[in-house]
Amino acid sequence: TREYSNISMAVIRRLPKYHRYLKDLLDQETYRISSKELSKLIGFTASQIRQDLNCFGGFGQQGYGYNVEELYNEIGKILGLYQSYPTVIVGAGNLGQAIANYTNFDKFGFSTLALFDSNPKMIGMRIRDIAVHDVDQLEEFIKKNQVRIGVICTPKKVAQDVATKLSEAGVQGIWNFAPIDIKVPEEIIVENVHLSESLFTLSFLLSQEFDQE
Ligand code: NAI
Repeated sequence: TREYSNISMAVIRRLPKYHRYLKDLLDQETYRISSKELSKLIGFTASQIRQDLNCFGGFGQQGYGYNVEELYNEIGKILGLYQSYPTVIVGAGNLGQAIANYTNFDKFGFSTLALFDSNPKMIGMRIRDIAVHDVDQLEEFIKKNQVRIGVICTPKKVAQDVATKLSEAGVQGIWNFAPIDIKVPEEIIVENVHLSESLFTLSFLLSQEFDQE
């Protein structure tokens, strides 16, 4: 299971972008590409690309370039896509519903089995075909359905409590959207998504631009 443990996190963080561009190339029926052409598309230098892709076996051939389909499949495999990731979403408000409504994750193996909420008005609702359950049933549901991923879309003040419940019930990973740094046992993998961090980076860059004028 630790087949790719030698690949640095910096490379891993670039893989989803390669994966996305390679998919676009396949959709355009481009079946091979040089690191130079890929570099023009993605914006990483050709040498960065060669270095990254060398980390997990040479898919490029001198004078031929990369086989797009092979590379796309291999990167998908490295990213662990197409495995089965039973997932639950806790907090069925705006964000929880938006994620549940986004069907694109399904085809990569992330299947949302249920949403959970504490508001009685929400319980029993369906988002697409996914039911909203009472959060009191969270732990039992996770155990029964071998849920691997918990998505936290609750208000900040309850997010740590939700994270603790998810961990104790046995999820392997948490996708945390609440704006706090949750604490869980170290064997549980946490990925945070904080849109405001990206937005505030944008505002920083904008304010720099316009200060200089
Ligand atoms: P919302 O108020 O629409 O939804 C929150 C839901 O959580 C409600 O349905 C509420 O009943 C439920 N809830 C409250 N306590 C609960 C508990 N103990 N267990 C289960 N469910 C509970 O809020 P919205 O807009 O969906 O935001 C949700 C969270 O995501 C907030 O923490 C917000 O700050 C965060 N957020 C993060 C973003 C990001 O980029 N990471 C972007 C937008 C929101």
